[in-house]
Amino acid sequence: MAAKERFRILGFAGSLRKDSYNKALLRAALELLPEGVEMDTFDLEGIPPFNQDLEGNPPQKVTDFKKKIRSADALLVATPEYNYSIPGVLKNAIDWASRPYGDNAFQEKTVAFMGASVGMLGTARAQYHLRQCCVFLQMHPVIDPEVMVPFVSDKVDSQGRLTDEKTKEKIKELIESLIIWTKRLKVK
Ligand code: FNR
Repeated sequence: MAAKERFRILGFAGSLRKDSYNKALLRAALELLPEGVEMDTFDLEGIPPFNQDLEGNPPQKVTDFKKKIRSADALLVATPEYNYSIPGVLKNAIDWASRPYGDNAFQEKTVAFMGASVGMLGTARAQYHLRQCCVFLQMHPVIDPEVMVPFVSDKVDSQGRLTDEKTKEKIKELIESLIIWTKRLKVK
């Protein structure tokens, strides 16, 4: 990244739901970006189930996703927790973008995770499973802060706007930490 270029984040959510709380976290992040930082979002809708037979000639949506990942300086992922783990939609998209072997779009990327759930653990278990995936993906996850938003239905209004100030503050800190670590690690 050249000194005067804008810092570019790619955000995506592990939910396809129209009224997704995790999409609401991403929308909130768009309002909390520091000066000189821009963020694009990518909707995982339409990515088919991974089939290794097709990994050498993937669907256009996957090619687009990989291109967006590569052109971003860093990634911001907002994920629900499904059955104490990563939603299939998100894991599937990660699997596609990491293949074929030797063409892993996540290689050396920095990533920040956040997540919202209607339950009390705020996606903690899903996020730790994502951190485990980062090892094989050779991706650098931001360690601190951890943004795990419990009881999210009390924190988003009927228009899908995040209203909880403490959560907004944490998202802001997470973005700042993502930028600091990306520059510190000097990743591509
Ligand atoms: C859930 N939910 C859920 N919540 C949680 O805290 N831990 C869990 O393990 C699960 N498991 C789970 C499985 C499946 C299949 C569904 C559909 C839901 C509830 C989840 O927190 C809630 O549906 C959120 O609203 C999902 O996030 P989005 O879609 O609003 O972003």
